[in-house]
Amino acid sequence: MSKKPFYPGLAVVTGAGSGIGRGTAKALAALGAEVIVADIDLDSAKDAAAEINSRRGTAFAYRLDVADTPALEAFAAQVKATHGVPDVVVNNAGILVGGPLIDVPLRDFQRITDINLMAMIHGCRVFGAQMVERGRGGHLVNVASMAAFAAAPYTGPYSIGKYAVKHFSDCLRAEFAQHRIGVTAICPGLIATNLSNSMKADGILDAEQSELTRKLMLKGQALFGMHPDKAGQLIVRAVRENRAVEPIRPEARIAYPLTRFAPGLVRFVMTQAGKRDITRLRDTVAGPQAIARVERLVDRIPFRSGNGTDSADGTLNTKVGGAV
Ligand SMILES: NC(=O)c1ccc[n+]([C@@H]2O[C@H](COP(=O)([O-])OP(=O)(O)OC[C@H]3O[C@@H](n4cnc5c(N)ncnc54)[C@H](O)[C@@H]3O)[C@@H](O)[C@H]2O)c1
Repeated sequence: MSKKPFYPGLAVVTGAGSGIGRGTAKALAALGAEVIVADIDLDSAKDAAAEINSRRGTAFAYRLDVADTPALEAFAAQVKATHGVPDVVVNNAGILVGGPLIDVPLRDFQRITDINLMAMIHGCRVFGAQMVERGRGGHLVNVASMAAFAAAPYTGPYSIGKYAVKHFSDCLRAEFAQHRIGVTAICPGLIATNLSNSMKADGILDAEQSELTRKLMLKGQALFGMHPDKAGQLIVRAVRENRAVEPIRPEARIAYPLTRFAPGLVRFVMTQAGKRDITRLRDTVAGPQAIARVERLVDRIPFRSGNGTDSADGTLNTKVGGAV
């Protein structure tokens, strides 16, 4: 399918209450799209919709657990009945689970696979069917990650879903071209979002270590990550240009060709990383003696202006529009 003019009338974004989904919803609304903001957290969805509406956009908030298959089907039917068939659907909702394969509880593996993989497939099925039936084309976006091609140790539960989403998107793109439906896999590197708040590493971290790691990751994302509004704008550009794969940020843009043209080198580096005893690393960084020291250090790291807030729960304020 070649490049096409891009005037989305109606867009659906899942996980749009926060982070990349929220940034993408705002970017689509800025293009004039009516945006359906869906999230498992209705308050955040309402907040995102209110932000769009306050900027003269049009958005509607819905509560949706994408992993609840009947609920996703009912949601798609309600969108069609109330708003029409979407021109763009962004399957974005996701969570984070990591740790050594043997230690990760199977239920956490199942949960992340249900949300990060099966829900994206199902989202494409239900909304893809509507687009095919309407016969006017459209665009499906699946938010994967650079983890789709960079296979690092201890990221298996997260990476397998992202790898599969990217491959599935390629398959669907070839299949749906005949219907003028574009499919894009988004593969971001580090973006300043709340993703670390969903992190589960039960098999390896106790509650205190988990909390500390969450805080560290959140600060790292806020300090070094791209603003989610900027990521949203790049996602919309990828849709407009009908790109198959869109790596976002330099680490993703470098890793993508490197893993294809020098896979042996990448495997060697990752294997060396995997030889490090993660439990020793954990005890150095988050052991009983180190924990207070690291905690003090984390508290001293500021959030980057425009990317976050110093709110008590450490939740990033991704509403703030600066630094894009
Ligand atoms: N932040 C990054 O560095 C990064 C990098 C690569 C890929 N990603 C991917 O980007 C996507 C968005 O994540 P983010 O970084 O913006 O994180 P985020 O936590 O800021 O946003 C995710 C949103 O998804 C929602 N959500 C979680 N489970 C849900 C469910 N079952 N049903 C509906 N909504 C649900 C959350 O409530 C939240 O609003 C994810 O798929 C993530 O894997 C993020």
